[in-house]
Amino acid sequence: MIAMLPAPALPRIVRVLRLPGGERVLVRPVRPPELDRVLHLDGRNQLALVAQTCGSGASTVIAEARYALVSDGLECEFALSVADDFRQMGLGAQLLAEIECRARALGARRLVADVLRSNETMQAFARKAGFTMTGVPADARLIRIVKDLATSSAASPCKPAISELPIAA
Ligand SMILES: CC(C)(COP(=O)(O)OP(=O)(O)OC[C@H]1O[C@@H](n2cnc3c(N)ncnc32)[C@H](O)[C@@H]1OP(=O)(O)O)[C@@H](O)C(=O)NCCC(=O)NCCS
Repeated sequence: MIAMLPAPALPRIVRVLRLPGGERVLVRPVRPPELDRVLHLDGRNQLALVAQTCGSGASTVIAEARYALVSDGLECEFALSVADDFRQMGLGAQLLAEIECRARALGARRLVADVLRSNETMQAFARKAGFTMTGVPADARLIRIVKDLATSSAASPCKPAISELPIAA
C-alpha cells in the first residue's frame, strides 16, 4: 500500500530586492502548481527545448526555449533565452522558428509571450520575427507580443525532426 504523505511545507524564503535602478524584485519559492507547470511538461502541448554545445569539449547548455498551449489550444505561450556569449548569431531565431512550427502543427492560432516593456532587445527580436505588440491591462510593466499564425506565414520552413534525418556513419 502506498502511504499518502502530506506535501512538505515550502521554506519561508521571501525577499524583496531593490535593483540599482530602484525596481523592486520579489524572490520566493516556486509554488507547487507552478512547479507542476515547469516540471511536468507533456512533451506535446508543453515542451522545453535546450540548445547545447556539442563540439569536442564539455557540452554546455547555451539556450532554452519553452512553450505551452493555453486558452483551449488557441494560443501558444512561449519563453526564450540565449546565453550572452551566443546572442546575435541567429540561435534565438532558429529556436523561435522551431516553436512556431510546433505551434502551427498543434493548431494554435496565435503565438504569444509577455515581455518586460524595458526589454528592447526582445521587442526588436520579436518585430523582426513578425510579432505585433499590445498592452497587458493587468500589468503596465509588460507588453504582450503576438504573432497571428492564421494570417502570417512561417518564419522559415519547418525542418524535419532530427530522428528523421540520415545518421552520419
Ligand atoms: C531576445 C533573444 C532571445 C534573442 O536571441 P538571439 O539569438 O540573440 O537572436 P538572433 O541572433 O536570432 O536575432 C534575430 C533578429 O533579432 C534582432 N535582434 C536580436 N538581438 C538584437 C539586439 N540586441 N538589438 C536589436 N535587434 C536584435 C535582429 O533583427 C536579429 O536579426 P539580424 O541578426 O538579421 O539583424 C536574446 O537576446 C535573449 O535571450 N535575451 C534574454 C532573454 C529574454 O529577454 N527573453 C525574452 C523573454 S521570452
